[in-house]
Amino acid sequence: MNVLTTAAGAPSASTTGSAGPAGPAGPAADPFRPEWHFTSERNWLNDPNGLVYLNGTYHLFYQHNPFGPEWGNMSWGHATSRDLLRWEEQPVAIPCDEREAIFSGSAVFDEHNTSGLGSAGTPPLVAIYTSAYSGASPLAGRQAQSLAYSLDEGTTWTKYSGNPVLDRASADFRDPKVFWYDGGAGSYWVMVAVEAVERQVVLYKSADLKNWEHLSTFGPANATGGVWECPDLFELPVDGNPADSRWVLIVNINPGGIAGGSAGQYFLGAFDGVEFRSESTVTEGLQQDGSLMREYGWLDWGRDYYAAVSFSGIADGRRIMIGWMNNWDYAGSIPTGSWRSAMSLPREVSLARIDGKVVLRQTAIDPFAGQDSPSFSLGPQALAPGVQELPVAAAVARIDVEFEPGTANSVGLLVRAGGAERTVISYDVADCILRLDRRESGQADFHAAFPSVEAVAVPLQDGRLRLGIHLDRCSVEVFAQDGLATITDLVFPVEASTALAVFAEGGGAHLVALDVVGR
Ligand code: FRU
Repeated sequence: MNVLTTAAGAPSASTTGSAGPAGPAGPAADPFRPEWHFTSERNWLNDPNGLVYLNGTYHLFYQHNPFGPEWGNMSWGHATSRDLLRWEEQPVAIPCDEREAIFSGSAVFDEHNTSGLGSAGTPPLVAIYTSAYSGASPLAGRQAQSLAYSLDEGTTWTKYSGNPVLDRASADFRDPKVFWYDGGAGSYWVMVAVEAVERQVVLYKSADLKNWEHLSTFGPANATGGVWECPDLFELPVDGNPADSRWVLIVNINPGGIAGGSAGQYFLGAFDGVEFRSESTVTEGLQQDGSLMREYGWLDWGRDYYAAVSFSGIADGRRIMIGWMNNWDYAGSIPTGSWRSAMSLPREVSLARIDGKVVLRQTAIDPFAGQDSPSFSLGPQALAPGVQELPVAAAVARIDVEFEPGTANSVGLLVRAGGAERTVISYDVADCILRLDRRESGQADFHAAFPSVEAVAVPLQDGRLRLGIHLDRCSVEVFAQDGLATITDLVFPVEASTALAVFAEGGGAHLVALDVVGR
C-alpha cells in the first residue's frame, strides 16, 4: 500500500488533555504519550482508584509507584479534572510506608459525616483502600481494608487511627468499592470487595464506614481462570426506564480474560441490599472449561481494559467508568520509557434491551465532542474490492464509519498505517465477527504475549456495521454498534504511521459514511 505521510502536529498547550505533557520537545521526544488519556508524568501507574466527583471536580486516584516505572511501592497517585479529559496531576495522595502498601479501593463523600472523621460543617471525603501489610507490620502478609480521610476536598489525607477497619485474616482480600445503598432493606454503606484467589465477591454493610457486617458472598461463576479483582456494583435503568432496572456486578479477572491476560467481566441481576442474584450466570463454581468464555458478559473484548470501576458522587444518573489501559501479561515491558501505562478514555455505561436481551452499552467521553467540522468526510459511495487510502492523517483522532457489507467477505479499516505498519480492524461478514489485529501495528516484540488478534461477535443492525474508533498515539479503542461491543488495544507504531484506509475484500461493499475528527 502506498502510504500517506502527513505529519501530525505537536499538541498545543490548550489541546493537551493529559496531565503528562509531552515535554518541551513535543511528541517527537515522547511519541507514545497520549493527549487525551491520563498518564502520570513520570513512573508507574495501574488501576484507577477512588473515582469520585465532588463540587465540580472529578478525582482520579490511581495505583502508582512514585519512585520508578515498574510496579512497586504502591501508593495512591492523584489527578483532577473538570471535564474527564483534561487532567491535572496532583501530589501523591496516600503514600506507602514500611508497614503497608496502599492497594486499590474507592472513595466516597461522607456528606452526613457518618464516620465522624469530619464534622457537620466539614464532611470528609473518605478513601477505603486495601492495606497490603509488609515486613515491618505485625499483620505482614495480610490484606485488610483501611480508611483515610480528607477535609480539604482531596488535597491532603490522614490515615484513620483505627485501621484496619475490616480484617478477615486473609492474604488476598482486597479492592473495596463502597457505595451508599438506599432501598427496601434500609439505608447504609455497602462494600463489595474480593477474596481474589477464591474467585468470590464479598459484600459487607456499615452505618459508619468503620464497623462492617458481612452480608453475602457471590461466586465463583462464569470466568474463573484467574484471580478476581476490583469489583463494582451499581444499578442502571434499562433503556432509561427506572421501573425496569438491573444491578451490574463488575468483576475484573487476571489472567483468564477473554482476549488473554487481564479483562473485566460483568453480571446483570438483582440486589436486595443483602445478596446479589445473577441472571447472567452461565457456569457456576470453579471450572476450567474455557469453551463458554464467549457466552459471558465482557466489558471489553481487547487486551487493554482492566480494573475498570465507576465514579461515585455523580448525581445526575450518569455511570462513568475508567479502566487501566494495559494488561498484566506485559504491562511491565511496554516501550514508553520514563512513564508506564495510561488510563482508558472514561466511558458512560448504560443498559439497553436488544432483541429481547438486556446488554451493556458503553460510550466514550469524546475529546472531540462539539467540534462540528470533521477534518475529513466521505458520503455514501460504493467501495470497490481492494484498499482505498484516504487523504487524511489520523493519530489523535475519532473516526466514525458505517458500512453495508454488500457482496464483500470482509470490510474494514487500516489505522496507524505506514511502511510495514498497520493495525487492521476487519469485519468478517459470514461469521459476523469484528477483529482487531495488532500483529503488525509497530513495536510488538518487546513481549511474546503482545502480538495478538482480538475478536468479538457483532451482528449487523439493519444490514449495517457502525464503528466509532478513538486513536490516541498508543491506543485504539473501537466501539461497535454504538458501544454494544468494544475492543481496546495498545499499539506502538512510529510517529509517522498516520495513514488511514478503508477496504472491502472478496466483493464490493457500500460505505454509508466516514468522518474523521482530529489529526
Ligand atoms: C489489580 C490489582 C489489585 C491490587 C492492585 C495492586 O490490577 O492487582 O487487585 O489492589 O492491582 O497494585
